[in-house]
Amino acid sequence: MAKEINTIGVLTSGGDAPGMNAAIRAVVREAIAKGKQIKGIKRGYAGLLQEEIVDMKQQDVSDIIQRGGTILQTARCLEFTTEEGQKKGAEICKKHGIDGVIVIGGDGSFKGAQKLAALGINTIGIPGTIDLDIACTEYTIGFDTAANTAMEAIDKVRDTSTSHERCSIIEVMGRGAGYIALWCGIANGAEDILLPEKYDYDEQKLVNHIIENRKRGKQHHIIINAEGIGHSASMAKRIEAATGVETRATILGHMQRGGSPTCKDRVYASTMGAMAVDLLCEGKSNRVVGYRQGNFVDFDIDEALAMRKGISEYQYLISKNLSI
Ligand code: ADP
Ligand code: F6P
Repeated sequence: MAKEINTIGVLTSGGDAPGMNAAIRAVVREAIAKGKQIKGIKRGYAGLLQEEIVDMKQQDVSDIIQRGGTILQTARCLEFTTEEGQKKGAEICKKHGIDGVIVIGGDGSFKGAQKLAALGINTIGIPGTIDLDIACTEYTIGFDTAANTAMEAIDKVRDTSTSHERCSIIEVMGRGAGYIALWCGIANGAEDILLPEKYDYDEQKLVNHIIENRKRGKQHHIIINAEGIGHSASMAKRIEAATGVETRATILGHMQRGGSPTCKDRVYASTMGAMAVDLLCEGKSNRVVGYRQGNFVDFDIDEALAMRKGISEYQYLISKNLSI
């Protein structure tokens, strides 16, 4: 028989992402609508181990849907990757009467949820990361906002790059994944997009491309470089020396993680937050919410973590034709 859920805990873990607050708000309000108690666990698994657990009421999530960051704070916690830490976490949940935990984060955070589930605490994961690097889902909370933030910043760099007839290398986040880079590359009409999934280390090709474009009268050359490749500053120096074209590197950094979430991030995060509560109430555990082919769906966490995804070959291919 499915375990009855009376009290739900919610935490955010790993890197924050715009829209996490919308998800927290939805979890709290849907849980209350279903007659459940709801507790906020501060600072991810680190806060769980420190028993930073607070009761949450309807008004505690007022005025947050439009805010970036996470009101529950977030952290990375080494102790929770150990068996001892996980057992301690499960015991603390039991002590506080928490029957189910909703974990908003990335693959690493889902591994923590998987461990809690094995120790008798029902868990549901919600994909929250600007990197979009979770294989089971085509949507992760924060990617849309981060990509739009980066796109707007790149437009600004492009203005000054054109005025000075420069080459600009703009580095965007994404850890080992190139989704933000690919999307901005297309959205900003970049001349070159460097993705970890595709990088062949042949810088001469870049140099030739810049020289050819210059001969054809192009006034700027925008290169979007993914964080997973990195080294933008040294790359800029080498390219300037090889092409004679003044080259600057801009690393967008953490500004991509902040700011008010887009409409899409608010709506999808709200839907996933409510759905996670509904799944717990149905007695489900060790599952993760996802979005695929127009539908909100859920997967077994073990299966979700075993899935792999790559970038769109077609979009990468056409990006080269479109930037001519
Ligand atoms: P993300 O969730 O964005 O992938 P991390 O990989 O930093 O971010 O993971 C967030 C946290 O999840 C870690 O700090 C740790 O507390 C927990 N975690 C990561 N891997 C594991 C694991 N194998 N077992 C248990 N907990 C884990
Ligand atoms: O996972 C989100 C992310 O912003 C990545 O794009 C980046 O590699 C990493 O987190 C940065 O982490 P930190 O905030 O610890 O510097």
